[in-house]
Amino acid sequence: MIAEAWQWLTTPATSQARRLGFLKESIAMQARFQRCRSAWQPHYQRCQQVIREAMAQAGQQRVLLIMGAGLLEDIPLAEASERFEQVWLVDMVFLRKARRRAAAFANVRLIEADITESLTPLANGQDDVARPRRWLDQPVDCVVSLNLLTQLPMVPVRSRLKRSSKNHDAQLETLGKELIEAHLAYLSRFSGVRCLICDRWVEERRADARLVDELDPAWDVALPSTVREWGWTVIPFGESAEAPHNERIHRVGASIW
Ligand SMILES: C[S@@+](CC[C@H](N)C(=O)[O-])C[C@H]1O[C@@H](n2cnc3c(N)ncnc32)[C@H](O)[C@@H]1O
Repeated sequence: MIAEAWQWLTTPATSQARRLGFLKESIAMQARFQRCRSAWQPHYQRCQQVIREAMAQAGQQRVLLIMGAGLLEDIPLAEASERFEQVWLVDMVFLRKARRRAAAFANVRLIEADITESLTPLANGQDDVARPRRWLDQPVDCVVSLNLLTQLPMVPVRSRLKRSSKNHDAQLETLGKELIEAHLAYLSRFSGVRCLICDRWVEERRADARLVDELDPAWDVALPSTVREWGWTVIPFGESAEAPHNERIHRVGASIW
């Protein structure tokens, strides 16, 4: 806990990433990865494999753009750096370990940015979700959305709930769906190879395999068909203090088009 608080104080991050909780979540994710390494590693390896497949399909190798790069554990960074002239990694926040890894490659750039281009307007009370345009005019030959899509509604919906209890479920649902749809439309507007890796279904189970809970993390929005699917045990048995006898598995799907 003290180590995580120290990390929060000393990690370079934008005020938005601090204020909206992205830095805290990223530190918590890194700590969980350290505790759950054996359960998470197969997922990260599969993500890397899918990114290799997407990179191999690119007609030219000018810019590889990866959105939701976060901890960088799910990116085959050395191969990406070797294959592409430039590798742009985007996230709201990068911890020191990710910064050190990226710094080892002269053509890898870390970009701290809001992929939705909506966080500020939504925080200022506007209702409209933006249609992101950034980098559409750049020579991006391969774009990857990496375990990010279903996270996009979380902060805006949470902030809405905090600001006013008058928000109706239907309004929050509309906001969540619009953010997901806008990201999918954004991905599709890139002319190079597009790759989407995200969770398609979430299940919570007891040790006897009994289903306790399940949900669609994409808020019922239709997603592109998958070329690969696998299970990622995000919360293994014993990890959750509230429900130590449950495990949570994300069914992850990858699309390349
Ligand atoms: C589940 S994590 C995946 C991170 C990384 N791919 C990994 O597994 O290490 C989701 C990532 O999306 C980022 N993220 C969420 N909303 C974002 C936004 N609006 N703009 C940019 N990044 C965002 C978070 O900071 C986080 O790093």
